[in-house]
Amino acid sequence: MLIPATVAAVSVPVIACGGIATGAGLAAALALGADGVSMGTRFLASQEAPVHSYVKRRIVEATELDTNLIMRQVNNTSRGARNIVSDEVLSRLRAGCAFADIQPLVAGARGRTVFETGDLDAGVWTVGLSQSLIDDVLSVAELVHRIVSQAESIISTRLREMVTPT
Ligand SMILES: Cc1cc2nc3c(=O)[nH]c(=O)nc-3n(C[C@H](O)[C@H](O)[C@H](O)COP(=O)(O)O)c2cc1C
Repeated sequence: MLIPATVAAVSVPVIACGGIATGAGLAAALALGADGVSMGTRFLASQEAPVHSYVKRRIVEATELDTNLIMRQVNNTSRGARNIVSDEVLSRLRAGCAFADIQPLVAGARGRTVFETGDLDAGVWTVGLSQSLIDDVLSVAELVHRIVSQAESIISTRLREMVTPT
């Protein structure tokens, strides 16, 4: 919701990112002044994404409750899937461990293993709250077409009716 502050502060096109996976999200971002959107989790659950199908299936099944915000204590906050490894990272940091004690757990190489093998507990892997909005694994073409169509419909019908006297 701080998109308008960004738009006011810069003179370049603004791309909104975070939590957007539907046409409603696109329409909302445009209403807030953004020129476009970037989607991470939505495209991770696309047919073309080069990750194991178990990852995509997990995104479809998961809700907004299935993530962990880790590494805040070491000034490197990031959100990822809630799993055995991210639970362990949280627990160690809450107990006062130093970064060195969690470094082997959060290593990017372990996260890549998840994407390559489909072992969802192999490491920490990035995913957003927007997974709660994702119910299918479509091709990128189908996704973009659907999201744009939804946004157009919301803007031209729902929002138009709100400002047009009946
Ligand atoms: C597979 C994947 C990789 C990501 N890699 C990065 C990254 O390297 N740097 C970064 O700042 N954010 C990264 N992100 C976070 C996204 O930029 C975004 O902030 C986050 O996923 C929330 O948006 P979403 O709801 O569209 O996923 C990544 C997200 C995903 C799903």
